[in-house]
Amino acid sequence: MIKPNTPIQIGAHTLKNRITFAPTVKFDFTDDSGKANQRLVDHYVERAKGGCGLICVEATAVTPGGRFCKTHMGLWSDEQIEGHKQITAGCHAYDSVTIIQLNHTGYTTHPDCGPAIGPSTMLRQGFQGEYTTQGMSIDEIHAMQQCYVDAAVRAWKAGYDGVQFHCCHGYLINQFMSPSANQREDEYGGSVENRARFCSEMIREVRRICGPHFLISVRTSGFEPDLQDAIGMAEEYVKAGCEYLQVSSGITSLAALPPYSDGRVSDIQSLGAYFKEHFKGRVPVSCVGGLTEPGQIEYLLEKEYVDTVDVARAILADPEFANAVLEHKEYTKCCTGT
Ligand SMILES: Cc1cc2nc3c(=O)[nH]c(=O)nc-3n(C[C@H](O)[C@H](O)[C@H](O)COP(=O)(O)O)c2cc1C
Repeated sequence: MIKPNTPIQIGAHTLKNRITFAPTVKFDFTDDSGKANQRLVDHYVERAKGGCGLICVEATAVTPGGRFCKTHMGLWSDEQIEGHKQITAGCHAYDSVTIIQLNHTGYTTHPDCGPAIGPSTMLRQGFQGEYTTQGMSIDEIHAMQQCYVDAAVRAWKAGYDGVQFHCCHGYLINQFMSPSANQREDEYGGSVENRARFCSEMIREVRRICGPHFLISVRTSGFEPDLQDAIGMAEEYVKAGCEYLQVSSGITSLAALPPYSDGRVSDIQSLGAYFKEHFKGRVPVSCVGGLTEPGQIEYLLEKEYVDTVDVARAILADPEFANAVLEHKEYTKCCTGT
């Protein structure tokens, strides 16, 4: 029976257990330099020490023009590699596989950082009212893909075991995946294959440069605009070389999702379970969302609904949460709901 402490092979790497620290941005931990500083190093090393089988370092900007805010961490320049070397060395000392999530905020870029670019020109509603986005030309798309690939190569040089493409939560890659955000009529819009192309081309290029040992993962929307298309795009990512699917939510609301069989699995968790059913062991699949109780984590793994569980707030609340689940110890409870 699969338990939280059962190791798992993902690509060329073995995770010592099934609990992964989900990417979570730390606003204001760094400054406009985007460098990983000692505070960020300590934050991640503390959670590796806390027992996580895999640490996914937060959404990291591939260009200064694609940030949430001016204190968003980055990997857009070689000068930023050094701080990341300390994160990877510190986490590896505790035997946590360590990857980093690569991101561009697209339409939701902070106006102080850059224009709201993305797949199409359209009117959108933001926190500051209505605004018009800038659709990218083919040349701009290729230049943007190069930014992601260059950041992945810097991650490789910094000692990361791999990268994760941020394909969920409404940011740039997710905008390409969503028919409501992507109205293109060329090879980057329309069909499932075309909406996945922006990311699948980057996966191929990173695999070509960084080789077979480098773990390539996507954190993808499980519902874009429905389960079938979301799985179709994940198939494209797997075909391109993705070895690990972490499933979360995206632009389309989950309201239309069919409930999962036994009623003990929340909507967002069930996306991972539906993906696992589809992929049948070809690639490991995780779920996320409200995993604050050891019992629920054990249940999802024992039932083999997912291969790994991705935990954010419970590990923010207590860096020792993974050890607490693995060793049945007391922990500080995350007080936010599911
Ligand atoms: C403070 C904070 C920052 C987050 N930053 C990211 C991020 O950088 N990338 C990402 O994919 N999700 C991010 N998320 C979403 C989490 O990874 C996770 O999907 C969500 O919190 C649900 O999991 P949980 O119930 O275990 O917290 C963030 C969530 C929080 C609370």
